[in-house]
Amino acid sequence: MIWSWSPTSDRLRLDLTRLARVVPRLQEFYRKDFTAPDVTTYFAKTTFRDYRALELVTGSAAMHTPMDHDQLLYVIAQMGEAVNGGRVLEIGFGKGANIVYLADLFPRTGFVGIDLLDEHVAHANSNLRNLRNLRNVDFRKDDASSPVTAHASYDVIFGIESCCYLDTVEKQTGFLRFVKRSLTPTGRLVIVDGYRSADFMEKPPDVQRAMLLAESGFRIREMPSKQTWRRLAARERLVLVDDVDLTAKALPFWIRIWKVAHALLRVPWALRAYFTRHEETGANFVSLAMTAYALAMGSAEYGVLVFTQGP
Ligand SMILES: C[S@@+](CC[C@H](N)C(=O)[O-])C[C@H]1O[C@@H](n2cnc3c(N)ncnc32)[C@H](O)[C@@H]1O
Repeated sequence: MIWSWSPTSDRLRLDLTRLARVVPRLQEFYRKDFTAPDVTTYFAKTTFRDYRALELVTGSAAMHTPMDHDQLLYVIAQMGEAVNGGRVLEIGFGKGANIVYLADLFPRTGFVGIDLLDEHVAHANSNLRNLRNLRNVDFRKDDASSPVTAHASYDVIFGIESCCYLDTVEKQTGFLRFVKRSLTPTGRLVIVDGYRSADFMEKPPDVQRAMLLAESGFRIREMPSKQTWRRLAARERLVLVDDVDLTAKALPFWIRIWKVAHALLRVPWALRAYFTRHEETGANFVSLAMTAYALAMGSAEYGVLVFTQGP
């Protein structure tokens, strides 16, 4: 019965075989040379279609793993005195749902959001025009790996499922240098995201493959591990103050999604016909089919990292 299914090695092997029938050039999914235009195309094609489906299910425009606003609680917990007139920056705001939620709760705090896509800025701004009481929000187009428009002093800088798109050491370093320059002395950087697991290389090949495919479907070269963030942050003299593992909380959603994907993979010809016309949705499907395996079998984890200024 579908409700008793769980991701196992046997099912992973079966799904990988079926995926190869759906996505004939599955090998190309291992390509890891995605650039900003690939990410832009992916979100331009999926935000207002695939992510709309998520919105219909959750009732929220947030483009992240639905967990009852848990992710935002970790941001709020770090706001401290910023609730009385501080400044908060979100990187990769998507449809702007996180900032709209926070700006409504904390009207005395100034919120800035940056995102790679013109479409996201336009959508978030038009949404904002309908919320006339929210005057403490500023959405801008910018690249979090080397922001040029958002220079200011921030009490909190956060990213929810967006820092994973900083998928090279160069981009991570560019972002962390910006954070170092832009955080107040007691400010906090909050990263809520998926990560490659620390022992990724020791996992069986199929389990590694599940994560490689999940990343590629999301148009990400390599999700940094928590260790990578810690090492690079230390190099910029940013100190870790919290590290929370939320894998067990994120997993039930991904397993529900996987059950649907696992069932659909029984009709590979139908999926193949549809994805030939909607390539980015096909990429998304590969991620949705593989993420539960990666999280359940240990090639990925989900959680929160919090950093502050070091000496
Ligand atoms: C999965 S969505 C998450 C959106 C939002 N954080 C949320 O929780 O609803 C990832 C977002 O990161 C943005 N993004 C990806 N790479 C980026 C970059 N280098 N700079 C700024 N934004 C980026 C994408 O455009 C997308 O809006």
